[in-house]
Amino acid sequence: MRYLTFALSKGRLAEYSADLLESIGIDCSELKNPARKLILADEANRIKFFLVKPGDVPTYVEYGAADLGIVGKDTLLEEGRNLYEVLNLKFSECKMVVAGPAELEGKLDKLNNKRVATKYPRIAREYFEHKRRESIEIIKLNGSVELAPLVGLSEVIVDLVETGRTLKENGLVVLDTIADISARLVVNRVSMKMESDRINRIIEELRKKLEESEENR
Ligand code: PRP
Repeated sequence: MRYLTFALSKGRLAEYSADLLESIGIDCSELKNPARKLILADEANRIKFFLVKPGDVPTYVEYGAADLGIVGKDTLLEEGRNLYEVLNLKFSECKMVVAGPAELEGKLDKLNNKRVATKYPRIAREYFEHKRRESIEIIKLNGSVELAPLVGLSEVIVDLVETGRTLKENGLVVLDTIADISARLVVNRVSMKMESDRINRIIEELRKKLEESEENR
């Protein structure tokens, strides 16, 4: 039997992913102690895992280097890759929002030639130019995006909000919500056909687990 391969996002998402996969009987002991190894395996189930940067998960899955992937919806929207999104895994839930100083509440469309700082240029452009039909200047940052409006780099930001603490502690508010975000299971289009039995079994078992944990909430 050939190995089924999973691309997983390094970091917090990998820990949740490992817990979820263990709950359906996949052995994630190697995955949980990766050291510096990049390919981890569950030999008994003939499954291999790659740990990669979140933004690279959709790339591995689109090209078929991984059959499946677990990645945030934010990354999927930003990368726009050609793959199947098959299951909302309901963990790492947060929101993609437009945020800025409270003075801009209700005035977002009155601000011409906005500068929007973000780690997500594609999502920001799609939202402002296609949904709101406003032209904007995107300023791409790599982190601590909340700083930008505080120091005059941009008027607003497009970023993830989980607890809202970062915004609050920096005197910023949510001006609009763009999308609900959570971890998703994605599948390569060809693998979905070639390995449909094994992949569908995994999807169904995960779906059952998620329903059970929803009922116990
Ligand atoms: C994320 C996000 C926000 C923050 C939101 O940043 O970009 O900055 O978390 O969380 P909160 O609503 O619970 O405060 P991350 O921690 O990934 O670091 P970064 O800003 O360097 O990207």
